Amino acid sequence: MPSAPLVQVFGSAQELFRAAAQEFCSIGSQSIQARGKFTVALSGGSTPRGLHQELVSNFSSALAWEHVFFFWGDERHVPPDFPESNFRMCNETLLSKFSISPDHVFRMPGELPDANQGAALYEERLREFFRPATGGFPRFDFILLGLGPDGHTASLFPETKALEEKEHFVVGNWVEQHGTYRITLTYPVLNQAANVMFLVSGGGHKAEMVRKALQDPAANLPCQRVQPVNGKLMWYLDQQAGSELK
Ligand code: 6PG
Repeated sequence: MPSAPLVQVFGSAQELFRAAAQEFCSIGSQSIQARGKFTVALSGGSTPRGLHQELVSNFSSALAWEHVFFFWGDERHVPPDFPESNFRMCNETLLSKFSISPDHVFRMPGELPDANQGAALYEERLREFFRPATGGFPRFDFILLGLGPDGHTASLFPETKALEEKEHFVVGNWVEQHGTYRITLTYPVLNQAANVMFLVSGGGHKAEMVRKALQDPAANLPCQRVQPVNGKLMWYLDQQAGSELK
């Protein structure tokens, strides 16, 4: 039975990123101590930049980075050197700063002409790495997620096919709203994670979406279907993002 989300609102974006970095490193150290590694699915968008900056500036010795394995929750349908690439953003702001070994970085292949083929290749890599039981799903130690202005998370956008995927770990997802394909982890994988953190900063439409996500069950937003079956769900917000919560 999914547990209730742990919602925390911090006074500023800086306090938000500091707290998120502390939680990331705490979970990471426990994972490494217990199993010798820390498996993380990173998020795209712009918000993670603040967390990455905090980790690089103040947490370089707070985690045994050489035991961290990096994956992605989603990727745009572009090559890794394109400005929109989630890999590029994470590599520039985090991975390159810690000289992470390439064999600890599992990039989603967004460059293939067929996004579904990229998704299938990534699914095979997850299967090889996590070796889930037949019919089971990879269990990440930590999945970082953002919240889009329409309530999407990863590349699970409203009214897209990926929302209904129950078997595959990863799918190509046509997003009509953006006229493009994406590659995304599916709910079965997100909901198998040991820890999932929504990291949301900023007000306006985001604050309204946060209120709906956390206080309007009838909103039926993609982010609301993230309910780890045996894991911790955290919503880390700054004051602006949490400003419309009752
Ligand atoms: C992406 C992300 C997406 C993002 C949200 C929030 O590929 O863009 O995975 O889900 O997290 O759109 O983006 P911001 O952090 O830029 O607000």
